[in-house]
Amino acid sequence: TWTTEAFVEEAIREIRAKVGHKRVLLALSGGVDSSTLAFLMHRAIGDRLTCVFIDQGFMRKYEPERLVKLFQEQFHIPVEYVNARERFLSALNGVTDPEEKRRIVGHEFIRVFEESSKELGPFDYLAQGTLYPDVIESADTNMDPGTGERVAVKIKSHHNVGGLPKDLRFKLVEPLRKLFKDEVRKVGRSIGLPEEIVQRHPFPGPGLSIRIIGEVTAERLNILRDADLIVRQEINRRGLYNEYWQAFAVLLPIRSVGVMGDKRTYAFPIVLRIITSEDGMTADWARVPYDVLEVISNRIVNEVKGVNRVVFDITSKPPGTIEWE
Ligand code: XMP
Repeated sequence: TWTTEAFVEEAIREIRAKVGHKRVLLALSGGVDSSTLAFLMHRAIGDRLTCVFIDQGFMRKYEPERLVKLFQEQFHIPVEYVNARERFLSALNGVTDPEEKRRIVGHEFIRVFEESSKELGPFDYLAQGTLYPDVIESADTNMDPGTGERVAVKIKSHHNVGGLPKDLRFKLVEPLRKLFKDEVRKVGRSIGLPEEIVQRHPFPGPGLSIRIIGEVTAERLNILRDADLIVRQEINRRGLYNEYWQAFAVLLPIRSVGVMGDKRTYAFPIVLRIITSEDGMTADWARVPYDVLEVISNRIVNEVKGVNRVVFDITSKPPGTIEWE
């Protein structure tokens, strides 16, 4: 029978046999796959592993700090933190089209990744948290026709963006490639990853940049981050986090009239997108208890400056998508 201990031992043996004394680069994303991967790789090859975390500025409130702290202080795994916030924001300056935004963020990510890998490298391998379903999906695209080995052509967390440039096509080391998501969670838990990472909801590669409809600005990011944190806090407080596939806030770039105290307001609405799903392919809006919605709404309007209205998205997928862009 499959046990996490046996898997971890076998994975470490396999990693050592494959990469020998070569150097490996790993891009941490904050999710359970890359976190589990980092732990295994570090156990297997120690300081021949370099973990880089590229902060695009589109993560949820406190997540980048927590991630770096967890790895450095709890796991004693060094992380190269790359602050690319300004860079991503200016790349998106004036951009409103959803596909264009995704393309730019993905492209910028690859450029920053390329620069970091040149600065910190050279590396022979890229460690990627590919799971079994991803292997099947990318069976031919990742095959080097010369050697038959799997090579990196894409960055996992960025959907539908151009591939890696030719000289960045590292050989891959993918110790999670035989696992399904629930197995990765078991392994992650067994090595001591906190529940907030093990059970973390899916989060898109372009992050909050595609949860701000239209132009992304620093001000809008701050508003969305604060509203999004309230959604998570209230859902966590009632032990509902694991009931939902995802629960997040979206900012709409329009203004509506409201009243606060004796003053008229004219500010952004926040959309609550809280859904249930088995696999993300189809989804239903969650029947969130009214009192939870009430507290979320009150808190967002009272605590987040720049927001005066909260609406709840009651669209299933299909015909809606989970994300708004
Ligand atoms: P949609 O919006 O297409 O989303 O219904 C389906 C699932 O995919 C997630 N998603 C992404 N995940 N990189 C990712 O790793 C991305 O670029 C991306 N875009 C969407 C989304 O959050 C949902 O779980």
